[in-house]
Amino acid sequence: MSEIKHEITTPDFERNERIKTFYERNKKIIEKLLEEIKNKLGEGATAEVYFLDSNEEICLKILKPAKELPYHVPLEQEMNFLSQLQNIDEEVRVPKPYLTADYSENGDENAIRFLLMEKLNALSIRDILEGKGELPAGFNVASFKGKISNFLEKMHEKNIYHRDLHGGNIMIDNKTGDLYVIDFGASTKDFGSDNPYTEVRLENSLSFTEDEVNLTELCLTLKKYMVDK
Ligand SMILES: Nc1ncnc2c1ncn2[C@@H]1O[C@H](COP(=O)(O)OP(=O)(O)O)[C@@H](O)[C@H]1O
Ligand SMILES: [Mg+2]
Repeated sequence: MSEIKHEITTPDFERNERIKTFYERNKKIIEKLLEEIKNKLGEGATAEVYFLDSNEEICLKILKPAKELPYHVPLEQEMNFLSQLQNIDEEVRVPKPYLTADYSENGDENAIRFLLMEKLNALSIRDILEGKGELPAGFNVASFKGKISNFLEKMHEKNIYHRDLHGGNIMIDNKTGDLYVIDFGASTKDFGSDNPYTEVRLENSLSFTEDEVNLTELCLTLKKYMVDK
């Protein structure tokens, strides 16, 4: 018996009768999908992201088993960051989060945790650099940089630091060219007077690259990619 437990929802979920009803009706299908693992949209160091054949609006981010996980904040916290960053900017968006819950198979105590969120019709910059798609016509690195940089400023004003801003975590809408920042799995908030890019955990000090530095580096890579093409 596989089971979804400990659900935590967002106001966007509670407000959205369509997605709520869909979720309740299709929990069994989602459990089945989690069992079968197919329809992969993408993968990173901590998770795999899947979509459902039966609903184009949502996708599931499934964390890898705890023992294989590099640094990752709890999914509830990732969901909170996504909620707090809704509508902070007109040019750059983050996916709408809906719910996190545990999923386990056959009473396995090592439940995996998943996040149900808005599915973006988009490709990551990494996908594009790897030749899995094209940059939109008229794509301009300077304008890209300006838009993401504005977004970062607004995010930092809210005391949220992304800390993992590489090409796999910025997406471009396939139709509109709109930009999205995703994956707040390494992010932090309310660091007080400490440096948000270093973190001391169990005597180990972790350090992250500044968001602006990552952005500059990504833009250089993009420029080179466009020149080479
Ligand atoms: N909301 C989404 N809609 C569509 N694709 C997504 C979405 N979220 C993530 N992806 C895809 O899945 C990949 C991995 O997701 P991500 O959240 O970055 O996981 P990780 O923490 O493992 O890096 C992304 O690089 C992207 O290609
Ligand atoms: Mg990622």
